[in-house]
Amino acid sequence: MISIQAQNGISFNSASKVFRIDGGDVSYVFGINNLDELQPIYWGARLGTRDGFPQPHTNRGHASFDLPTGTTPQEFAGWGAGLYMEPALKITFPDGDRDLVLHYVSQRIEGDVLAIRLKDIERDVFVDLRYEMDPATGILGRSANIENRTSAPLVIEQAAAATWTLPRGTNYTLDSLTGRWSGEDQLQQEAMHQGARILESRRGSTGHQNDPWFAIERAHTNDQDAGDVWFGALAWSGSWRITVEQDMLNQVRVTGGYNPFDFGYKLNPGESLATPVFYGGYSSSGIGGASRLLHRFELTRILPQRPDPRPRPVIYNSWEATEFNVTESGQEELAEKAASIGVERFIVDDGWFGQRKDDHAGLGDWYVNQEKFPHGLKPLIDKVHSLGMDFGLWVEPEMVNPDSDLYRKHPDWVLNFAGRPRTEGRNQLVLNLARPDVRAYVFGFLDKLLTENDIAFLKWDYNRNWSEPGWPAVAPDEQKQVYVKYVDNLYGILRELREKHPKVEIESCSGGGGRVDLGILRYTDEVWPSDNTNPFDRLTIQDGFTYAYTPGVMMAWVTESPSGPNHASLSTEYRFLSSMQGGLGVGANLNHWQPDDFAAARHLIEEYKQIRETVQQGSLYRLISPRNGSEHSVTESVSVDRSQAAVFAFLHTSQFGYPFPLLYLRGLDPKAEYRLHWITAKPGGNLPEVATGAYWMNAGLSVNLDGDYQATAFRLDRVQAP
Ligand code: GLA
Repeated sequence: MISIQAQNGISFNSASKVFRIDGGDVSYVFGINNLDELQPIYWGARLGTRDGFPQPHTNRGHASFDLPTGTTPQEFAGWGAGLYMEPALKITFPDGDRDLVLHYVSQRIEGDVLAIRLKDIERDVFVDLRYEMDPATGILGRSANIENRTSAPLVIEQAAAATWTLPRGTNYTLDSLTGRWSGEDQLQQEAMHQGARILESRRGSTGHQNDPWFAIERAHTNDQDAGDVWFGALAWSGSWRITVEQDMLNQVRVTGGYNPFDFGYKLNPGESLATPVFYGGYSSSGIGGASRLLHRFELTRILPQRPDPRPRPVIYNSWEATEFNVTESGQEELAEKAASIGVERFIVDDGWFGQRKDDHAGLGDWYVNQEKFPHGLKPLIDKVHSLGMDFGLWVEPEMVNPDSDLYRKHPDWVLNFAGRPRTEGRNQLVLNLARPDVRAYVFGFLDKLLTENDIAFLKWDYNRNWSEPGWPAVAPDEQKQVYVKYVDNLYGILRELREKHPKVEIESCSGGGGRVDLGILRYTDEVWPSDNTNPFDRLTIQDGFTYAYTPGVMMAWVTESPSGPNHASLSTEYRFLSSMQGGLGVGANLNHWQPDDFAAARHLIEEYKQIRETVQQGSLYRLISPRNGSEHSVTESVSVDRSQAAVFAFLHTSQFGYPFPLLYLRGLDPKAEYRLHWITAKPGGNLPEVATGAYWMNAGLSVNLDGDYQATAFRLDRVQAP
């Protein structure tokens, strides 16, 4: 037996033709089967170093209706030869042939990357699969590059990044995140059955409705922190699709990549198309363990400031206070008040530019409005700096109002079908960023803005989805490339801006959480999860959000009360504690605040600064979920070195007056001693001042919350050994 052991956890056994990739607590194994197809073998808990597998062999068909092509999972299947399951790649050739059968050709190992080359059995269509394992978390990044080396153009009708294959079994639960504007990230859990479940966006961007994330739990055995979970996240901010299917023999496969709906990418001879990366991982510590792995992975491998992102500063944003009515003096007054409570970054939102009085005009005209800021932004920025804060600004670069100088000059710059109506959303149209001139314009004005002003932060908004996604300036058979080229240019602009202005941080916002995914997170430091800032609603949104994304990017503002769709009146303390579970901001109208509010805010912001690293970058444990109408909810965050924990507890309504459930903390060092510190006024909980991790995790802690909309929080600090 010849066995090539390569570096970095990748190995290939040339006798059994089996590849194995190890990372974290995970092993991922696949091989070249008897037909030269790439066949998955194993994905799960890490195996013994010497464990091996025989060469994979195609499965038997099922009667004459399900051929081996369909019953045998592949790593990356072309649509051809009787495949009825979701293909990874589907191509139409100019002669009308649509058969694609991909066979193994060769492999390369470059550093951490295993690259496998596949080729159609006859045509010169090559596919390079890329596997990159994160040694710390065991999260594997998979993508494909499709190359046309034939002598004629072809059309790619469907291109996935990867197919993930789960151990054959029937008792799975699928977790996904669904939502809508102002109600994002609702966790759905459903039993899996035969058939396909589609998670997708056809909107041109990620969307509020589905997140490009899934988790599959082995049902009946799992709870929050125990049991097998396979999960994945697609790094793409355009139209996407993840198909989760359980076939007729109860084999589960998950295929994700570009959304094939309205897709049709013309590939000329010599050209290639790269897919997004589909990340996948496995945890034996339940869905909580899965999200902790993803959080760690995002912080250390995805975010622009990886592997050690700066914690988010405490921000003030005046949007909910002033809406479009921003003025130099009004903003300065708010800035003074914000500085007085410990805010570190002051952000001017919509309304500062062009003829922007409301949402009917101005988008596209990125000059400072002279009436509102007669001397430009400089006096305000200087004032903000003199108060010890840095300065941030809202932009919505990809949009244009028909009532703007830009649109009057360039009506052809928007997505449109020639001669057809242009459907507006919020009175705006989408600029076609795939066009080189639009890309140059957008980069140009942002670069100028950042060069001429001392700006530390951009809130990059995107307030509608596509309609009429036409691109009349290019040939009809090239128009559909817009689905890929638009997003590539968006990423390109963000990348170049960051290179040229390395100190500038960026937030991804799309009417709240409409563009949150691991693709945009490579270029943005934080996101705005929802326009819904009601602190009670936020508990559920934040709970769902953190299944896929780290609290380190989850901005949360304290706003007015009553607020949100249910107009609930909530105490300043409750509002702060809800927001302190992510990146803290204040968005209330400080001109309405009383001395008591300022005092409470000053105190809680000071407390927040003591725990923010733990909350943003530590390990999150969901002790009690707010979902499904739960009366209670509790989160605990533990710092990476386990020296600190922060606990937030909320009571919705104490129906029948039952006591708050006992809390059992997790993730502490059982032997170390921790000292209790109340963040809020002590609610009379029966807690010791100092106790071991073992005590905090096992004794059962009581916090005495009763009434409606109550909240409390405390932290534990490890006592230094004398
Ligand atoms: C979107 C954002 C808000 C605010 C407005 C401004 O809705 O999500 O936070 O910036 O746009 O128009």
